[in-house]
Amino acid sequence: MHLEFRSGEKARCKVAGVDVMRIIIATIFPDFVKVVKEYGVLAQAVEKGKIDIQILNLRDFTHDRHRIVDDYPYGGGPGMVMKPEPFFELHEYCKQVFGELYTVLTSPQGITLNNKLAVELSKKENLLILCGRYEGIDERVKKLVDLEVSIGDYVLSGGELAAMVICDAVSRFVPGVVEEESVKRDSFYNDLLDHPHYTRPAEYKGLRVPEVLLSGDHGMVELWRTAESLKLTALRRPDLFLSREFSTQEKKALVWLIQELVKHAERCEGSSDPLSSSGERW
Ligand code: 6GU
Repeated sequence: MHLEFRSGEKARCKVAGVDVMRIIIATIFPDFVKVVKEYGVLAQAVEKGKIDIQILNLRDFTHDRHRIVDDYPYGGGPGMVMKPEPFFELHEYCKQVFGELYTVLTSPQGITLNNKLAVELSKKENLLILCGRYEGIDERVKKLVDLEVSIGDYVLSGGELAAMVICDAVSRFVPGVVEEESVKRDSFYNDLLDHPHYTRPAEYKGLRVPEVLLSGDHGMVELWRTAESLKLTALRRPDLFLSREFSTQEKKALVWLIQELVKHAERCEGSSDPLSSSGERW
């Protein structure tokens, strides 16, 4: 993989002539953020050239001796406010070097990240993520911003962790970063929660892996997994379950689930509550 910098031409990240997605993170803590591309799936994706992750230090876009990126708030009050100039200069630099940008600002006031938004962001050629700080950022920076994104209803002291979360969640949808089959099976991909997973040994501390997974019957394994996903979604996210249009496979899984519940209830004589979670065998 290489970055092509030619005069008058935008840098394109190319692997065998194919453009790959680039995520640029602008932060005052580059060493903190860089771990996002140093471990696991993202590290492999960067290595294989499936994605390019650039981490830029906002202080590199200052001109004073102390590389100052914040200042006192107009009107007074506690805390400091991030200055607009480094953001504008960094944005301009990225435009010059990388071309068209889609710019996200991390902010607790933003729209909440979910899989759907991650998919949309994964289609951008150059995604620039500006890390805000909780104390504040000069309002004029928002002129550069296409979307403000939050990662949940709580406050972080800075946008760095949020940027790393966005970077990870988005990268998973870039083709070739994660096996497509795994992505499809992940929680929320189809608005369903994921089914349980097991590996060897088949029994550990008296806890057995469900028989169906050892049976070698792939059809039954799939039915069980679908039923598990539906069961967990119904229990934990009834909102998702109730608004769902069920596929034929899902309807079959639901019928099978009910049949199994009835059999279970019949076996547990005296148990009048087949949906009781005691005696779990699903
Ligand atoms: Cl994006 N930033 C900060 N500072 N806090 C957050 C957040 C973002 N998302 C949730 N809390």
